[in-house]
Amino acid sequence: MSVSVSELQSSVLATSMRTHTCGSLTLDHVGQQVRLGGWVHRSRDLGGLVFLDLRDRTGVVQLAFGPAWSDANTLTAAAAVGVESVIVIEGTVVARAEQQRNADMSTGDIDVQVTSVRVVGAASTPAFPVAPAKGDKLPSEELRLRHRYLDLRRADLQRNLMLRHKLTQATRRFLDSRGFLELETPILTKPTPEGARDYLVPSRVHPGEFYALPQSPQIYKQLFMCAGYDRYFQIARCFRDEDLRADRQPEFTQIDIEASFVGQEDILSTAEALIAELWRTAGVPAESPFPRMTYAHAMEHYGCDRPDLRYGLELHDVTPVFAASELSFVQAAIARGERVRGLRVPGGAALSRKQTDDLEIVAKGAGASGLIVVKRTETGLDGKVAKFLAADAADQLGLAVGELGLYVAAPDHVASPALDRVRQTVAQRLELIPSDVHAFVVVTDFPMFEKDPNTGALGAVHHPFTAPHPEDLALLDSAPERARALAYDIVYDGLELGGGSIRISDSALQARIFSLLGIDDVTAQARFGFLLEALRAGAPPHGGIAFGLDRITMLLAGATSLRDVIAFPKTTAARALFEGAPSPVPAADLLELSLAVASRSGGNA
Ligand code: AMO
Repeated sequence: MSVSVSELQSSVLATSMRTHTCGSLTLDHVGQQVRLGGWVHRSRDLGGLVFLDLRDRTGVVQLAFGPAWSDANTLTAAAAVGVESVIVIEGTVVARAEQQRNADMSTGDIDVQVTSVRVVGAASTPAFPVAPAKGDKLPSEELRLRHRYLDLRRADLQRNLMLRHKLTQATRRFLDSRGFLELETPILTKPTPEGARDYLVPSRVHPGEFYALPQSPQIYKQLFMCAGYDRYFQIARCFRDEDLRADRQPEFTQIDIEASFVGQEDILSTAEALIAELWRTAGVPAESPFPRMTYAHAMEHYGCDRPDLRYGLELHDVTPVFAASELSFVQAAIARGERVRGLRVPGGAALSRKQTDDLEIVAKGAGASGLIVVKRTETGLDGKVAKFLAADAADQLGLAVGELGLYVAAPDHVASPALDRVRQTVAQRLELIPSDVHAFVVVTDFPMFEKDPNTGALGAVHHPFTAPHPEDLALLDSAPERARALAYDIVYDGLELGGGSIRISDSALQARIFSLLGIDDVTAQARFGFLLEALRAGAPPHGGIAFGLDRITMLLAGATSLRDVIAFPKTTAARALFEGAPSPVPAADLLELSLAVASRSGGNA
């Protein structure tokens, strides 16, 4: 990833206080008088000569103060100024002597000999160094989040946020050029059905009533289609009160897209072209169109709906091999209609007992009751269960010498997530993930519904406005859990970048889907009445997709946490450490909102 600094530092940043920016100065400016403003990045006092590195968002330049060109006041001020103070200087650009040039710095061929300096924003001692000494580790993330204004000064974060800006602008340009209108939707709204908990906002003027912050603009973008706006997009803030991970924030940003008179391929081709454009913007190659894979194929061969295709380790069904074994627990599983699936790990026979035991712990952690481990060595099949298998089992399992076989006997809904975790763990531990290869895949044909294994109730896999696959309409009556949806995800290196669907544009079909989801007419009317009305008032065929802008920026910036690409993120405990949110409010404010706080034991950290 590279955001070209020169693009962001051009003369448009000149003001009445400065003629140039720090990172823009080169040998071309030698002899010029310049005025600069910035933060003191580092300071070195060599007794008589003082060097300050001056930083702004475009880079760092070395300022030189010496008796030959700086007066006594200027020299004294330079020696006294603390790091992170803001200064404004005037001086002359000079070429550095050959042996003092620094090829690692874009401004490393020059110095600015300072003739006057003004401290315009003195800094107290910073809570941590913005410019740590070489080899020094970053301070803890908690400390950095508490002092986010300082952390945001670090070059890495500045680069990430400038990349975010470029991606946002590229999105706008791309979608505008294809006729998409950028339209806003409300933040104070009704609950939206994306599957997470809502953040609620109490209404002062309507005691006991609440707005919900949008989990996505889903319903509104469909209303735009019903109203004839044809193509919509928004860089939309979304709010979801869900368990957080490195790739999830409670408040995040979607590139939200919807279009009319479209089928799945129309949306996917626009989406792929947008992604390719964003990757190009960040200087990362992306070949489109992306490979396609059905949900059923992904689950069968990778155990998950967002497979990481940077490496192999595909899953195989080896039920027949184990059906012929003398392993009674496997026989029993097969008799219950379960299957035995697993993967072959090249080079895996070299793993120690401890390492394979750890893999079993991973499988159990993901819900499996165990992991069958066999190794093919020069002398045959090795492992606790080997003696219960047929003499030629290694060949039947397709295991070559040096390979490890890892299997789970269980119903698919148990085996798939366990094997997915095992597959990912093995790939990481054996370093099978190439660092220079990336893999997109479009996963299609998601099921319409998922069945709650305990209650048997159906839930929407995407959201309740997703259209069923036309070939599976009959299944809605006979076996709705087998019906596919016109829903799709775009996946990159095992991470879901975005997802969408073709929508139901027929109000009768929408009512039928609500009823399959156990949403009765009264509830449907109360929650989504305004959409149902719009669908009855002349709705075009429509569909769309939404991408996680934070996730895309994280991947393209080479960051590993969303917190490194969001200016003011929340912690995994959903706290904003710098501003200290959430926070209690005075009793009078609660009263005005007609609210009271119920005490709850074991409150949240
Ligand atoms: P979905 O719920 O799949 O679809 O969300 C779309 C994309 O948003 C991103 N995302 C998140 N990013 C950061 N933190 C989160 N908590 C978070 N949750 C989701 C992901 C995801 O792929 N309305 C539908 C889209 C549609 O049907 O058009 C929706 O919101 O990258």
